[in-house]
Amino acid sequence: MPTALILGASRGLGLEFTRQYREQDWKVFATHRSEDDRIRLRDLGAQTLRLDVLDINDVAGISWQLDGEKIDVVVCNAGVYGPRTSSIANPPGDTDFDLVMRTNVLAAMRLLPVVAPLLLASRGTLAFISSRMGSIAEAGASFGMLYRISKAAVNMVAKLAHVEYADQGVRVLALHPGWARTDMGGPNAEVEASDSIAGMRRVIADPRAYPSGGFFDYRGQSLAW
Ligand SMILES: NC(=O)c1ccc[n+]([C@@H]2O[C@H](COP(=O)([O-])OP(=O)(O)OC[C@H]3O[C@@H](n4cnc5c(N)ncnc54)[C@H](OP(=O)(O)O)[C@@H]3O)[C@@H](O)[C@H]2O)c1
Repeated sequence: MPTALILGASRGLGLEFTRQYREQDWKVFATHRSEDDRIRLRDLGAQTLRLDVLDINDVAGISWQLDGEKIDVVVCNAGVYGPRTSSIANPPGDTDFDLVMRTNVLAAMRLLPVVAPLLLASRGTLAFISSRMGSIAEAGASFGMLYRISKAAVNMVAKLAHVEYADQGVRVLALHPGWARTDMGGPNAEVEASDSIAGMRRVIADPRAYPSGGFFDYRGQSLAW
């Protein structure tokens, strides 16, 4: 039975990853912050772990709680959008900047050396849930400036993870879920969360078509960094 670790599984895309991998009878380790979410994930048959990605002790705890586990897929999914600005005229304040950059970027940097070793034995896949909004090459609008900048940085984390771990057999991907209907994406988003996750699972499952070091959307389209 393959095993997945979903970091940030309480709702939205992380919850849907958990649901779909469980439907396929995968063993799933799913992280949460609240007790209600722990129960929901447990009822899906997931093994639950408490993780606030801003808490350095929680991050370290993942390492010892999963010591000896052989994991096939790790999805680094937890993220926040931050202020919904419409242009670059309103730079963020310290509090917004700290929350978005620490959640989306610093946490990914700290989780990387904790979770990558869990993938070595299976020569597994580490997927960072990034966003097309983080593509510098494709930047064509300036709304959501802080989020865009944070996801551009996430892309660099993914690329450096590829540089460091691909030689050791770990495949690293940056993935764009599409504009998906979740709390973050909102009700008018274009893609059902279930379709986004089905697509990203297909990308994750096919190392030949989607090799390490790539940036792909949920339909398997290659994106420019
Ligand atoms: N939806 C879209 O259209 C879209 C598009 C491109 C990229 N993405 C990316 O996809 C990922 C998931 O987004 P979503 O749409 O599912 O968003 P969401 O519905 O807002 O869910 C965000 C998830 O991140 C978790 N999280 C936030 N801060 C955390 C922290 N400090 N510690 C642990 N977990 C934390 C939340 O946990 P709690 O429930 O505990 O808050 C929740 O599970 C994000 O990285 C997002 O940037 C989404």
